[in-house]
Amino acid sequence: MSHDLFEAARAAMRLAYAPYSKFPVGAAIRAEDGRIYAGANIENISFPQGWCAEPTAISHMIMGGAKKIVEMAVIAEKLPLCPPCGGCRQKIAEFATAETPIYLCDETGVKKTVTMADLLPHSFETDVIG
Ligand code: THU
Repeated sequence: MSHDLFEAARAAMRLAYAPYSKFPVGAAIRAEDGRIYAGANIENISFPQGWCAEPTAISHMIMGGAKKIVEMAVIAEKLPLCPPCGGCRQKIAEFATAETPIYLCDETGVKKTVTMADLLPHSFETDVIG
């Protein structure tokens, strides 16, 4: 993974709005256009209304006109590595392949690399929708 993807995830984490959990998370995607799209978690006083860092990054990617996650980094300063939550795994899978690498980072860099298939085996797929 290039250092700029890690740096983007870490910089995004510092922009997190997490006054309730006090658990800032950052995510950064390198998309098929070569650009980096980053995001942080954004919480709400009505707790279920908040959302994770990963969908913020995905939103930026889509609004930037890209649609494929080539690689992704996730970081949370309070964990040595932060695997995406279950809901985020489904959201990431929409724009990834089974082989897409996901880098689980701490403040110093990548601690573990996993694939999308590692995170979400036997994922929901069908050709009967749409
Ligand atoms: N969080 C993320 O941003 N990504 C994850 O994959 C796990 C959890 C956020 C949600 C909430 O703002 C805080 O971390 C504590 O759960």
